[in-house]
Amino acid sequence: MKTQFIKSDKLKQKPNKVSSFGKLFTDYMYVREYKNGKWQDGCIRPFDALELLPCSSVLHYGQAVFEGLKAYKDDSGTVRLFRHEDNFRRMRTSCERLCIPPVDVAEAATALTELVSVERDWIPTEKGTSLYIRPFVFACDESLGVHAAKNYKFIIILSPSGAYYSHGFAPVALKVEREYVRAVVGGTGAYKVVGNYAASIKAGEDAISQGYDQVLWLDGVERKYVEEVGSMNIFFVLDKKVVTPALNGSILPGITRDSVIKLLQSKHIPVEERRVSVDEVIDGAKSGRLTEVFGTGTAAVISPVDRIGDGGKDYAIGKKGEAGEIAAMLLNGLTDIQTGRAADMFGWVTAIN
Ligand code: COI
Repeated sequence: MKTQFIKSDKLKQKPNKVSSFGKLFTDYMYVREYKNGKWQDGCIRPFDALELLPCSSVLHYGQAVFEGLKAYKDDSGTVRLFRHEDNFRRMRTSCERLCIPPVDVAEAATALTELVSVERDWIPTEKGTSLYIRPFVFACDESLGVHAAKNYKFIIILSPSGAYYSHGFAPVALKVEREYVRAVVGGTGAYKVVGNYAASIKAGEDAISQGYDQVLWLDGVERKYVEEVGSMNIFFVLDKKVVTPALNGSILPGITRDSVIKLLQSKHIPVEERRVSVDEVIDGAKSGRLTEVFGTGTAAVISPVDRIGDGGKDYAIGKKGEAGEIAAMLLNGLTDIQTGRAADMFGWVTAIN
């Protein structure tokens, strides 16, 4: 696989400070096409509009997957990619679920390394910032039949970003979603496909209009067990034990979720992966046995939750406006490894010099 480089004739002004999430983009993107039955050589070219005909299949049937990962720069200027091969492995499984020809993990990793090396000066270094990386693959057949397309594009774009939530790393409020469901086993919930997010927007907007930040999804069959939050996996500290819903085929296998479990285990803090009923959560909040709730995700990193609403009633968790002890420890522990302030005993970081 060769990568062609098309130089931009005008580079953008880099910002002095980065605070938004996903609004600012670097000068270049990586583009690779699938046609005539194979992935062609890729190209790093100026970040610009794509040409798509109105009959492009992705616009009609949503045959598209994406990933989210991050790069950091440490104090010595070394660029650090966090678990990027795990993201590309997950992208493969998402592609397979949607009949998209999977992108080879090593080739995707090489493409990313080349792109990030070109754009290394865009990586912000202030606390809480990173280079957010968005790889995605979509169908671009020019026809309206519903079937697996024969043409695709794999693109990587880079966004220097701050915290995912506009209020930074302050705790968020979740609303238990009783009307809509996100996924069922056999569907696409365990894959990072665009349709999952489209289907979640209505519930998310309703929750925001009612004073919450995100929804807490329940399982789609019994509507009894907690699954995840719109953009995060979820953890509870119940009776002093860390508990998270077990991956059941409809929950996204988050890479931050996995990192958090391994980080806790390395500190001899056991994590129970099991079914967690919403009644257990609400009872725990009422009785004070639920001392912490936090979400985990690439974009959100560790996001403490200080309020859960259900059926018009709100339940406070921990101290209002403050992260709990375990969430704070995990946020520092993870970002220290990502940014090179702590040793990477797990082999999660790939350095690009
Ligand atoms: C991420 O955490 O990177 C995600 O892809 C979630 C996204 C909806 C912001």
